[in-house]
Amino acid sequence: MANRGNFSGNIGFILAAAGSAVGLGNIWKFPYEAGQNGGAAFLLIYILLTFLLCYPIMIGEIAIGRRAGSDAYGSYRQLGGKRWGYLGLFGILCGIMILSFYNVVAGWAFGYFLEISFGSLLDHPNYGTFFSEYVIDFWDNLIFSACFMAITAFIVLKGVQKGIEAASKIMMPALFSILIILIAYSLTLPNASAGISFYLLPDFSKINFQTIYSAMGQAFFSLSLGMGALITYGSYVGKNQNVIGAAATITLMDMSVAFLSGLLIFPLVFSQGQSPAEGPALVFVVLPGIFNAMGPIIGRLMGGGFFLLLCFAALTSTVSLLEVPVAYFVDQKKWSRKKTTWLLAVFIFVVGLPSMLSQGAVEMFTHLPFYQDRSALDFVSEVFSDISLPLGGFLMTLFIVTRWGTNNMSEELSLGNESYRNSLLEKYVNFSIRYICPVILGIFSVLIIIDKFYGIDKLTN
Ligand code: PHE
Repeated sequence: MANRGNFSGNIGFILAAAGSAVGLGNIWKFPYEAGQNGGAAFLLIYILLTFLLCYPIMIGEIAIGRRAGSDAYGSYRQLGGKRWGYLGLFGILCGIMILSFYNVVAGWAFGYFLEISFGSLLDHPNYGTFFSEYVIDFWDNLIFSACFMAITAFIVLKGVQKGIEAASKIMMPALFSILIILIAYSLTLPNASAGISFYLLPDFSKINFQTIYSAMGQAFFSLSLGMGALITYGSYVGKNQNVIGAAATITLMDMSVAFLSGLLIFPLVFSQGQSPAEGPALVFVVLPGIFNAMGPIIGRLMGGGFFLLLCFAALTSTVSLLEVPVAYFVDQKKWSRKKTTWLLAVFIFVVGLPSMLSQGAVEMFTHLPFYQDRSALDFVSEVFSDISLPLGGFLMTLFIVTRWGTNNMSEELSLGNESYRNSLLEKYVNFSIRYICPVILGIFSVLIIIDKFYGIDKLTN
């Protein structure tokens, strides 16, 4: 495998994979999903599913990638034959589609960084109105998300080690620190305790089918699972590295950022008397309040700093999303890395235009008639992430169980971790991949599709 590039070591891989995991999913999506789906009940199920399904699946993906040493398609194809290769292609398609809308939201975050630091956002009388006017502004959105895509392409071009690792090394600790500072501040605000109860005291009567599958989709999205991102990154991991330990660190880091983000947002939501079920606008509407309360100078600094860090977090995720199709064309079609990266960046940007225009700018994309009148952004994000990632995870476990074999997986995993063989952890991972994942993910994949397109309540009534 000449010149495919490699991570510099365990830390390099952990940082890059955690960089892929930690992103808008943790800070933008997690709080609004939790807010719409019962708060603490959602958090509980999310954590449970992460341990039960996602950790084993993450290990499986990295093992597949490292064993085959190829992109998502090439890895499945090499270990499983041509038919399984299609699963890799499906993942690559999901990566392209997820990046198309992700980049739009990243553009909003970038715009907020500028508007808070240098504009008058914090003085605006109504942050909700500001947001809804902001997202229909065509030129701002176009320019900011184009910039974002360009920076992503630039980092991907630099290759695995220099680009991806370097960006993650600075951003992660900084993001952690600013979150902690903001949480400490938000907890002192009046009525913060109502937010804490909403977020930490589960009301089990709120758990229903939708809570479970939303938490499942969130867990997969947040950990970058089910579409081959970690297969691709796994292919750059050295054989002497401990994948088991790395996966645990990545999972814990990702979970803690999501958890902290909720701990910041919900006290704010309740102290500002807003609804936690605001949807995708939630953090954009709620967060300016805390910066405003900090006064004009500190508020601008903290607010600007926060959104800038959010952009960095998003950037290490967009990089991993773009890397998946890029690796495919470079490995399989022998295209040059440079040409592939720029071509794909432009293509994906164009694919994202309907999502960009779906927040009120263009009626046709704002209310899709074939998707219960919901927006193009909802459509792309729900079909290619909420539905497809758990489905991709399901098919991946089928691949391991019926084709590659848990035995081969264990063998791969014990490279770099000799004590893995016959350990309790091995038994747990194999049990999850053989039984828990296929059953739970199989059932839910079908039910989610029914619900998204027809509404599950129509079926039961
Ligand atoms: N995990 C990223 C986030 O939470 C998004 C992502 C999904 C990245 C799938 C890569 C693959 O923001």
